[in-house]
Parts: sequence; structure tokens; C-alpha cells
Amino acid sequence: MSDRKIKIAVFVSGGGTNLQALIDKQKSGVIASGEIKLVVSSNKDAYALTRAEKANIPSVVVSKKECGSQEAFEKKILEYLKEYDIELIVLAGFMCILSESFTSKFPKRIINVHPSLIPSFCGKGFYGLKVHEAALGYGVKVTGATVHFVNEVPDGGEIIMQKAVEVQDGDTPETLQKRVMVNSEWIILPQSVEKVCSRILHNG
Ligand code: GAR
Repeated sequence: MSDRKIKIAVFVSGGGTNLQALIDKQKSGVIASGEIKLVVSSNKDAYALTRAEKANIPSVVVSKKECGSQEAFEKKILEYLKEYDIELIVLAGFMCILSESFTSKFPKRIINVHPSLIPSFCGKGFYGLKVHEAALGYGVKVTGATVHFVNEVPDGGEIIMQKAVEVQDGDTPETLQKRVMVNSEWIILPQSVEKVCSRILHNG
């Protein structure tokens, strides 16, 4: 077996619990074919940055507002990806949309975790707690999370893994979000990262 590992960048914007799951699963060996080399945050106050620091992973902040335009924002990110020789991008609670000009540079090399069973409650405007509010509003009895490749269609790329979670009586968006994270996102995101890294190592 070779020791080569796929170099991963994790993109975050907030609390970073999915980043933490990736760090923990890298330590425990669930992720063996890749290594997190860089954390990119769109928000300088994201707690995810503290998680990266505690795990000794380099991090950078790229603010869309400070860059002034989508083009400049993506250009800055691309510079960092080049500097760290990144081969796989993992969007883990990254709350910015990436343009087609960006995503087309990385076919099947960007993956995202979304907190519902796609194609329900996804696409433009569905992020974070809003997804769970919509699921509760509709009255679904089962929800979950999806890990998928990112292409030019928001939440529209090929599905890698999904895991269902039951909605319980009396759920609030917050209680449902937590159950979906614990029982779905934090499990299938690291498993998907390993699956994709291993596939890249073996099939290119
Ligand atoms: C997670 O639930 C993630 O699935 C969701 O935001 C949360 C981030 O939490 N992402 C989206 O809604 C993207 N459309 P985290 O920062 O603790 O990982």
C-alpha cells in the first residue's frame, strides 16, 4: 500500500462541527486515503477556525465582502488551493455559492454535505436551520442528510451517500438539526470523503 494521501481543503463558515467530525475520523483512521491540509473560512469569526488551530491545520479567511466581487473572492481561494496543492475540496457548512467558472475547474473534486434528503428541501435559499424549518413546515416524517458532488446546479450534483433520520413529535428546527447532524451528517461526510479519496488514489 502506498502512503500517498489526497490533499484536502475543507471550506467552512460557522461552527464547524462537520469539520470536527472530519478531523476526528482522520485521527481514528476512518479517513485513511486523504489528509486535511487547509481550512478555508468565509468568516473570520467562525468557530471552525479554532477547531482547525487546535488540530494544527493551517487556515485562511477569505471574505467575499472584503474581496469586493465573486470573481475576486474565487480568485483568492484558487491562489490558496494552488499554494497548498489541494486535490479535493470539501464544503462543510460553507455558506457561499461558488460560480460555474469555479466548480467547472474541479469536476468530481468538490463535495458538499446538505442537511436534507435531496431532492427535498434543497437548492437556492435552503441552508442551515432554514432546511429543517422547511422540513417541519411540510410535515415530513423522515429527513436526513446528503453528501453529493458539486456542479453548477446548487445541490444538484451526483449523490455520493444519504442517510435518513426520523422526525419526532415536538421537534423544533434546532432539535431536528442536531439529530440530523449526529445521526447522519457526521457519519456520512467522513465516509464519503474516504470513499472519494480512495477512488481518486486508485482510479485517478
Ligand atoms: C450543517 O448542518 C450543514 O449540513 C449545513 O450547515 C450546517 C453547518 O454546520 N450546510 C448547508 O446548509 C449547506 N447548504 P457546521 O458548521 O457545524 O458543520
